[in-house]
Amino acid sequence: MAKIIAGVGTSHTPAIGAAVDNGRTDQPYWVPLFKGYEPSKKWMAETKPDVAIIVYNDHVNAFDFKIIPTFAIGCADVFPIADEGWGPRPVPPVKGYPELASHLVQSLVLDEFDITICNEMQLDHGLTVPMTLMWGQPQEWPVRVIPLAVNVIQYPAPTGNRCYNLGKAIKKAVESWDEDLRVVIFGTGGMSHQIQGPRAGLINKEFDEAFLDGLTQDPERLAKIPPIEYMREAGAEAIELVMWLVMRGALGDNVREVYRFYHVPASSTAVGNIILEAV
Ligand code: DHB
Ligand code: FE
Repeated sequence: MAKIIAGVGTSHTPAIGAAVDNGRTDQPYWVPLFKGYEPSKKWMAETKPDVAIIVYNDHVNAFDFKIIPTFAIGCADVFPIADEGWGPRPVPPVKGYPELASHLVQSLVLDEFDITICNEMQLDHGLTVPMTLMWGQPQEWPVRVIPLAVNVIQYPAPTGNRCYNLGKAIKKAVESWDEDLRVVIFGTGGMSHQIQGPRAGLINKEFDEAFLDGLTQDPERLAKIPPIEYMREAGAEAIELVMWLVMRGALGDNVREVYRFYHVPASSTAVGNIILEAV
């Protein structure tokens, strides 16, 4: 049986990818951030999962404003890297797992989550920056990936509760796949940030820390936070945090917090990272 063994929460700030791609990780601005991710990278190198389900958001690259699925799963063999305006990031293409991805779609749709099937899909910083943070700059990614895109760009975004329940349905779907696979699930984006308008630069450390505490201790409380509260309290783009609840829902009731890191700022965002093992 396949099993979700752990969850990773991490921000996806595009400037982090640019720092790595342009060899700037040893600049004073970036040193604390990359140092803070070292334990997670080490954990990942030791854990060696077979598959990563990466819950992320596209930023008008795979999808434009013509079509915006609320939840979409990438079922391709391989996913190219999106050109976000300055050329694709110099990272390897992402290897998919079409059979398992299709099984997830089938199980989730039968569980009444209406998933959009993507047989072709380009991946932007929302997915590649978390991979870089956890795996560095390999010639080839050491894991197969199932991208799960969530719309947090165009109103209305799904609620945290819907995302949490989607995570529970993902756990059930993975456990009904008859192959011994060790799966990790990522919740990405956040933490507090607002990148436009008069409140640009807004950071709410208390909100972020309470969110990290809640992931470990009381996810049911987090699931009740309405979308407007993320935006009001922690900035318009903090709504990305609902994706961390998909990850948490997929881990089951009991988790062990293995590592946590919080840092301000990276570009306009507060950066958070948490590793939770399912127990
Ligand atoms: C920034 C953060 C994001 O989440 C994003 O998608 C784009 C830019 C930023 O802080 O610069
Ligand atoms: Fe973003």
